[in-house]
Amino acid sequence: MSQLQPISRPYTIAVLASSLDGRLARADALGQRIASAYDFQHLEQQVAQVDAVLFGATTLRLGGTAMRLQSPHLIAEREHQGRSPQPLQIVCSASGEFDLNLPFFRQPISRALLTTEKGACRWQGSTAFDHCWSAGVAEIDWPQAFRHIQGAGVQTLAVLGGGQLFASLLQMAAIDELWLTLCPLLLGSVAPSLYPEEIAFSGRLTLLNVLPVGNEVYLHYSLHS
Ligand SMILES: NC(=O)c1ccc[n+]([C@@H]2O[C@H](COP(=O)([O-])OP(=O)(O)OC[C@H]3O[C@@H](n4cnc5c(N)ncnc54)[C@H](OP(=O)(O)O)[C@@H]3O)[C@@H](O)[C@H]2O)c1
Repeated sequence: MSQLQPISRPYTIAVLASSLDGRLARADALGQRIASAYDFQHLEQQVAQVDAVLFGATTLRLGGTAMRLQSPHLIAEREHQGRSPQPLQIVCSASGEFDLNLPFFRQPISRALLTTEKGACRWQGSTAFDHCWSAGVAEIDWPQAFRHIQGAGVQTLAVLGGGQLFASLLQMAAIDELWLTLCPLLLGSVAPSLYPEEIAFSGRLTLLNVLPVGNEVYLHYSLHS
């Protein structure tokens, strides 16, 4: 069993889609989704429930945009609940290196950068991000990072990948639930992996639900035994 001390943090769900061989994207189309239109709706529904989403820098650099809610119904439901129409979009990057020409910087959303002291230096005086959180000198100090996130009123968080970010949060037992869509594909070892590094996670997952839709399978797990 994990001996990790619990960190004060938002309730966190990870929402990911992988091939049957645990790959997140095609090697020749790195920024493109591998799942169906149904999966996009499922993802949007999860995103509509949370205060903020968190994703890795590579995912943003390749995809160019944030996972913004598009359904008028989901946006109206949030507004009816007195919430912001869109969750806060948090990108995690130790380096803080981004091209300001990415469409992300023109999307009508609130943006936050979770970075290191070094990464934050790049954005001093910039208004590109609504929040620029420095946590750690050269590596992200996660307890400090979560204090920043919670300080912005974020009580629920959706982690949208990629694999590197997912692995680091999994490793420190900072994920409460996992939604994993299994896609009917075998993408091979060159494609980016959901599990890019050895994960020191010895906990067992509890299956909450399983739903086949077409050729995909929607798995919902709790990470608390
Ligand atoms: N199928 C899906 O559900 C899904 C979801 C998301 C993404 N994807 C795909 O996955 C691929 C990208 O995944 P990936 O694993 O290569 O990259 P990633 O996790 O998206 O991003 C990695 C980068 O994020 C930052 N980062 C992540 N964890 C960090 C940590 N613990 N501390 C500090 N910085 C951290 C670093 O940025 P810096 O280098 O700037 O320091 C790192 O290089 C893309 O092909 C994307 O399309 C698929």
